[in-house]
Amino acid sequence: MWAFAAPIVASGEHFVWEADTPEDRLRAYWIEKEAPASALVAVVDDGTAEGRVAGIAEIHPNQPGRGSHIANAGFMVDPTVRGQGLGRALGEAALARAKADGFTAMQFNAVVATNTRAVDLWHSLGFRTLAVLPETFRHPARGMVGMHLMFREL
Ligand SMILES: CC(C)(COP(=O)(O)OP(=O)(O)OC[C@H]1O[C@@H](n2cnc3c(N)ncnc32)[C@H](O)[C@@H]1OP(=O)(O)O)[C@@H](O)C(=O)NCCC(=O)NCCS
Repeated sequence: MWAFAAPIVASGEHFVWEADTPEDRLRAYWIEKEAPASALVAVVDDGTAEGRVAGIAEIHPNQPGRGSHIANAGFMVDPTVRGQGLGRALGEAALARAKADGFTAMQFNAVVATNTRAVDLWHSLGFRTLAVLPETFRHPARGMVGMHLMFREL
């Protein structure tokens, strides 16, 4: 996943991580999950038996302790295969996995408002925007922009 994750993070347009966030920290966040957290991958055919990982979803409790029944999740799809349904498939799979793992809702705290493809996708999967938190994200090209606080019952 690092081949597509590194440039996505470095673009600074989608996530709050600094562009120079080290690989081991991102791997720990995205992949090295312990239950009830989990990671899902989208695999595309590349002519090999295993296929190629072209997208990833990670699921984790949004809060510890008494808030841990609400899931949070993150998603990344390789830009070379976007618009082919992998993001939607990962979103649907993450919702199903979170429900199967006992979470009662999924909450997104930080969907950057300029990331309209993600905002539209999450709305189409049943999330509603509860608030757009003003000037909470320093976009590298557009300056201060808002972030959507989103919620969906499972
Ligand atoms: C958001 C993201 C995961 C979507 O992945 P994807 O594989 O492109 O998603 P899909 O192909 O399932 O398309 C989802 C929706 O995007 C829109 N879309 C697809 N192709 C598009 C294009 N070329 N231009 C604009 N919108 C497009 C459509 O509304 C589509 O909905 P549909 O299923 O009704 O057609 C991906 O763009 C990504 O990794 N972005 C960078 C990281 C990120 O933003 N993560 C989410 C943070 S909240």
